[in-house]
Amino acid sequence: MKAAKPTIEIYATPDDVYRAAAKKFTRIAHDAITQHGQFTVALSGGSTPQALYALLADTPYCKQIDWRKVHFFWGDERAVAADHPDSNYRMADETLLKKLDVPQNHIHRMPADEDDLNQAAWNYQHEIAEVFNISSNDAPPHFDLILLGMGDDGHTASLFPHTEALHENVRWVVANYIPKLDNWRMTFTSNLISQAAHIIFIVTGKNKAAIFENVLHGIYQPDQLPSQLARKACGKTFWLIDNNAAGALHSNQ
Ligand code: 6PG
Repeated sequence: MKAAKPTIEIYATPDDVYRAAAKKFTRIAHDAITQHGQFTVALSGGSTPQALYALLADTPYCKQIDWRKVHFFWGDERAVAADHPDSNYRMADETLLKKLDVPQNHIHRMPADEDDLNQAAWNYQHEIAEVFNISSNDAPPHFDLILLGMGDDGHTASLFPHTEALHENVRWVVANYIPKLDNWRMTFTSNLISQAAHIIFIVTGKNKAAIFENVLHGIYQPDQLPSQLARKACGKTFWLIDNNAAGALHSNQ
């Protein structure tokens, strides 16, 4: 299936980006629950999405989704305990999850703190397969939504430039050693990300402008710019960015 062109939406401020993201999140969730009885979403980590999660936990958005029908996953996680300050799980739990009525067995923390990270990645793949009611040997499922950020080196999730995980062609989730950080991560692979019905990148800040321009319009070199893997996405890809991250692109707001 040919990848659809991404939709780029440029907003004046980060707050406008978060509001737009909250509206899209809510619409996608509502449509998914209406169409197939549940909403499967993979959250992104880092600092950018925190304000979005806080918005979703507040009115009006928190009243617009039947949270009991939502399954939360993570697109990547650091190799730290759930209560560690660097944990993507902890950030989402504090800003969003603990304020919502989400069944505990619908919160699927990525176990990146286990000793055997390779086995833990397989276990997470089995956990995903169970929610989609498929075998973990099947082709990757279609998440209703995968939220992604982008680092100023062009990484997304924990798919960092020139790392092993970029060349994984079968598995949905893998452990990935990041030489520049000298630590391990667990991450969705591009096989899984590319199958999502919707991908929303949220990118703000001047420090992302140069790399964003390269990711969007530069030559296709995903080993150097992993966020370019989104060009292979089968579903709808949205880039929600602020004027600062848009840099040379003209603001359409
Ligand atoms: C992580 C994220 C990562 C993040 C980018 C951007 O675990 O750090 O999943 O992919 O989205 O690094 O991070 P900021 O939003 O902090 O700029």
